[in-house]
Amino acid sequence: MCGIVGYIGPQDATPIILNGLKRLEYRGYDSAGLAVLQNSHIEVRRDAGKLARLATLLEESPVHGHVGIGHTRWATHGEPSARNAHPHLGMTGNVVVVHNGIVENFLELRDELIAEGVVFNSETDTEVIVHLIERYLSSEASLPEAVKRALRHLKGAHGIVVLSSREPDKIVAARIGNAGGVVVGIGKGEMYVASDMPAILEHTRQMVFLESRQMAVITQDALSVQSLDGGQVQYEVHQVAWDPIAAEKGEYRHFMRKEIHEQVRSLTETIAGRVDFEKARIRLSELNLTPELAKRIRKIFITACGTASHAGMVGKILIERIARVPVELDIASEFRYRDPILDEDTIVLAISQSGETADTLAAMEEARRKGATLWSIVNVIGSQAMRIADGYISMQTGPEIGVASTKAYTAPLVDLYMLAILLADLRGTLDRKKRRQLIADLLLVPDLVGKCLDREPEVEVVARALMNTSHCLYLGRGINMPTAFEGALKLKEISYIHAEGYAAGEMKHGPIALIDRSMPVVVIAPRDPWYEKMFSQIEQAKSRGGTVIALATDGDELISTVADHVIWLPDTPWMLTPVTTVIPLQMLAYHIAALRGLDVDQPRNLAKSVTVE
Ligand code: M6R
Repeated sequence: MCGIVGYIGPQDATPIILNGLKRLEYRGYDSAGLAVLQNSHIEVRRDAGKLARLATLLEESPVHGHVGIGHTRWATHGEPSARNAHPHLGMTGNVVVVHNGIVENFLELRDELIAEGVVFNSETDTEVIVHLIERYLSSEASLPEAVKRALRHLKGAHGIVVLSSREPDKIVAARIGNAGGVVVGIGKGEMYVASDMPAILEHTRQMVFLESRQMAVITQDALSVQSLDGGQVQYEVHQVAWDPIAAEKGEYRHFMRKEIHEQVRSLTETIAGRVDFEKARIRLSELNLTPELAKRIRKIFITACGTASHAGMVGKILIERIARVPVELDIASEFRYRDPILDEDTIVLAISQSGETADTLAAMEEARRKGATLWSIVNVIGSQAMRIADGYISMQTGPEIGVASTKAYTAPLVDLYMLAILLADLRGTLDRKKRRQLIADLLLVPDLVGKCLDREPEVEVVARALMNTSHCLYLGRGINMPTAFEGALKLKEISYIHAEGYAAGEMKHGPIALIDRSMPVVVIAPRDPWYEKMFSQIEQAKSRGGTVIALATDGDELISTVADHVIWLPDTPWMLTPVTTVIPLQMLAYHIAALRGLDVDQPRNLAKSVTVE
């Protein structure tokens, strides 16, 4: 996953940037680079591969200076290569940029810039940013002003850091949305900037975190923060403890909340490396899915535990709807005991964040024994479930520390959506127009998730109302039935409140007896093909005196007339609603547990990786 480090001050910037990038290595990356202002000239060194490669480049061709920026890149647009690695220089050689995030409208911006005579040197989306900045710098704007103007054109979430030889005394950094953070470290007569605090913590504990739509102008002695929409902003300097764990938590009290907020970034990185935007095609190279295998598959069994199994339930619907391949979903602890019918034309797809869950591994062994093709979707690189599979998709979430899985739930949802498109494409059952539409919808995901996260204050109000409840019922239908299961699991595991997730249509067959004034009912009712049915469920719960908390799409005024609380969701293409509907439920569980003063990250009796059967 991408990382950024920058330095301005009296020391040599090169080793500081290299060290900082090293501290972000654990996030995973496939190329690295830096740009340093040497004798008023920007020098760039970059290549595909690890930091050791960059270090060798720097030994062969050293650069030294007092201002510089560096980047580790996880390929999104364009393969890992020297020309696609960051930093990216503009045509004049006077401006250089590093960037985290996806420029959602880059094709459009690239065409516009090409028409103005700009020549592109890479396949990246990032390059449009540097050319836009140059466009405004050449019209005599200052660097901060040019950055501000350039950023107005970008869609999506971004963290960017810019350097210009025209204004060598400063670094400009900005954050839009949640494509990772931007933190400025304040030293004595020197300043640091990074995407993640651990990169600069060895130099300073005084940190300023940029909020969304803020821009920092950093000189060696001063920091000024401005809003991208208005004037100066009063910033707060945080004194951070010298503790690597606390450092990892950054501005958050708990890992779970941090990880919930990392989802714009993790989903951006989940999508980007796998989509060929121009051809509207999905690439999942590590899956080893050939057209021949795709055509041969008769059935897919998805197997997983807990949260991962809920992702699998959504996957079943997506693969069946998009690729028209039959899918069965099995809880891993049950799979091998039911003697499943498998052969070489069946796929067993295991989903596991840790890749070490004993039940899931046992299910994979059973599949192997019976001759099925084994796939996995895994977060931990090098884990068992990755190693023993014939093909895999690695979640691009970075480490998940909180025991309650959050970002490692939404990433496989998106992976399964992409897998469904790829399968359909290879089997020849998806026409080009439909494929383009599905991929265009996919690109909306990071922004939609960002919009859900922005509504955290509304969720906190509901959390306060529910914090003393003893029970809670979650209802969902269709593609959001698993969301109800997942919302209930999140609440019970960290708040110890008894919660049940139920298929909404099943309520009348039993659980309706539980509904009275003391039973809050969380109803997941986005505008999807099951909306009308869900609406009648709300009325049924209301007429039995239940307190209804509805998750509904912006503008759905009807729902506010019946629900006691509404948590609003951005309008989302229905196949992707499970990615947005779960975000408020993760936040709800988090805030209830935090308000109850519980150990959110390490709830009692639970482990992050369940290695016993
Ligand atoms: O590592 P895995 O994804 O295989 O773990 C599966 C479950 O143990 C896990 O999802 C568990 O349910 C979490 N505590 C949910 O938050």
